[in-house]
Amino acid sequence: MVEREVDIPTPKKRKYHHNVSMSPVSGETLRRERLSLPIYPARRKIIQQVQRLDTVILIGETGSGKTTQIPQYLMEAGFGKIGTVACTQPRRVAAVTVATRVSKERGCELGAQVGYCVRFDDMTSENTKIKYMTDGMLLREAIGDPLLKRYSVIILDEAHERTIQTDILFGVVKAAQKRRKQSNLRPLKVIVMSATMDVDHFSQYFNRAPVLYLEGRQHPVKVMYTMEPQEDYIYAALVTVFQIHQEAPPQEDVLVFLTGQEEIETLARTMRDIAYHCPSDAPSMVVRPLYAALPPTAQLKAFEAAPTGSRKVILATNIAETSVTIKGIKHVVDTGMVKQRLFRPTSGLDSLVVKKVSKAQAWQRTGRAGRESSGTCYRLLTEEEFEQLAQTTIPEIQRVNLASVVLQLLALRIHDIMEFDFMDKPARESLLTALQQLHLLGAVEKQKQVQLTPLGRQMAAFPLDPRFAKVILAAKDHHCTEEILTIVAMLSVDSVLFTPASKREMAAAVRRKFMSEEGDHIMLLNIYRAFKAVKGNRPWCQENFINSRNVSNAMDIRGQLRDLCQRLQIPLESAGQDTAVIRTCLAKGLFMNAAELQRGGEYITIETRQPVAIHPSSCLFQCKPGYVIFSELVQTTKCYMRDLSVVDQRWLQEAAPNYFKQDRT
Ligand code: CDP
Ligand code: MG
Repeated sequence: MVEREVDIPTPKKRKYHHNVSMSPVSGETLRRERLSLPIYPARRKIIQQVQRLDTVILIGETGSGKTTQIPQYLMEAGFGKIGTVACTQPRRVAAVTVATRVSKERGCELGAQVGYCVRFDDMTSENTKIKYMTDGMLLREAIGDPLLKRYSVIILDEAHERTIQTDILFGVVKAAQKRRKQSNLRPLKVIVMSATMDVDHFSQYFNRAPVLYLEGRQHPVKVMYTMEPQEDYIYAALVTVFQIHQEAPPQEDVLVFLTGQEEIETLARTMRDIAYHCPSDAPSMVVRPLYAALPPTAQLKAFEAAPTGSRKVILATNIAETSVTIKGIKHVVDTGMVKQRLFRPTSGLDSLVVKKVSKAQAWQRTGRAGRESSGTCYRLLTEEEFEQLAQTTIPEIQRVNLASVVLQLLALRIHDIMEFDFMDKPARESLLTALQQLHLLGAVEKQKQVQLTPLGRQMAAFPLDPRFAKVILAAKDHHCTEEILTIVAMLSVDSVLFTPASKREMAAAVRRKFMSEEGDHIMLLNIYRAFKAVKGNRPWCQENFINSRNVSNAMDIRGQLRDLCQRLQIPLESAGQDTAVIRTCLAKGLFMNAAELQRGGEYITIETRQPVAIHPSSCLFQCKPGYVIFSELVQTTKCYMRDLSVVDQRWLQEAAPNYFKQDRT
């Protein structure tokens, strides 16, 4: 199919249609829609099963109504009277959009009867009966209440995603259920929901729980492969979308699977540019990004219908694979790629890697084209390439750094980590590495058993990677919480810089004023302060190529981290002009992410001797400091360090005397 090139249409000015706001759907329509969902006929059976059994596994195609309906069915059946019905989601977007939808279906205000709770955003009240939440949030609650007493039902949704948090939650919820039974407390009902059919594993793990299959409503999808392998999947996606745009009727929307924010935003701009220059008889095109870091209001735009006569093209990450349903999709363009966190046992570090998807994922993506009628899926792979894909994705718990997991388990007072009831046990060495890293951070100690130190307990209170939690706690001793909170908040959001491909040099020039010889962390601090001084003024953000949404998110997160500090009685203090102390403090948590300059001008990580390079977007790109620390590694053509700070070698030694074996002075 990709053999034909699209003619990039001749430039002819045409007014670009912005999305018009649509009138809200009436409550009556929503109620009728509820009754027409494939899940509706199974309603009674599902309620009966849940009343009769402790655990039920439920399998049904994406879009059949599992996530939106089951919690409502259970509440209507009385489970809301004896506790809250929780429904966990691996993704924050899903929790927010679904809660919004369900509150509309029930004609109530969001946060009242139906609410959501995600990291840094709790939209629930005393009266909330149906609570959509990220699995991470439920895990945090389990720290304070291991029996999860407030809940009558816990629905573990999107179980097939097998994120780390879901995997731990499986064990925690299973244990809570058992203990509630032993203590003669009200039983905890558990429902495991998934879109894929590989259920034996789940059923085995949940004490041979019975599996309910929901009747699907999947229409046939024609699958197309490329004739030749595609070197540049982004370009191939662009070409394919415009091919569809030229041929298909305008009401047929397109969903493109890509790997991340930067890629999506760049492609979105290119597509809008080309669409703007299309001949005026061509339908117009509305391009909508959809990825986790996008603020909820912007995410919701992807779900709105495009104005009549124009085509909606959604550029999404694997978010759109199963956890959200978008109407009107008739064509799926699957780049066959996904961004994954991957642990390198050699370096003990995680990095983000763009990888080929598994066959199971590719089929899920294909299914998105056949929701309402038959559709087409364009795989940007040859058929041979597809055949070589792995069958299924390896669960996250078996491929990432487990320091955060182990910290959480210990906070849950699960001391024998090796014996935790994992559905798929991570490698023993990975668990040991994690324990060792926590030990280096000062979070664990071995008494009779492995346990958290007082510092570790405080670290577990922060919904952050343990290294960053440590940095915040170290800031207390260095009297620079003011600055550190800002930096950590800025690192918790997606890039605050936005660089249009066509204005790269201009952006670099205006941004020079924020840059610092000390590195990117200090630059982030400068940006935040400047943003705050102009109160997030929009023209200012545009002039300076600052993504105001992301900085506003960071502000919000900072507020919450500040509240947490207050609760832990950590005073808010500023380092004033002393930026060195800020970097010293960063080194206290990031010493494992440290690299040193070699004679040849390249860098290697200090203890693990892995070759790494400074990311071209860093303000240290042109410099060659002797020692740096970095926030994360990104693997593309090389292994790049992102968000760096210059450090003194002594600071690293002081941060972890036991870690750095040899003294290099
Ligand atoms: O969980 P599952 O994939 O089985 O389906 P769901 O998320 O409960 O969605 C059921 C139906 O509700 C979808 O087919 C959509 O038509 C609709 N829906 C929606 O319009 N907006 C949402 N945010 C979520 C669902
Ligand atoms: Mg669902």
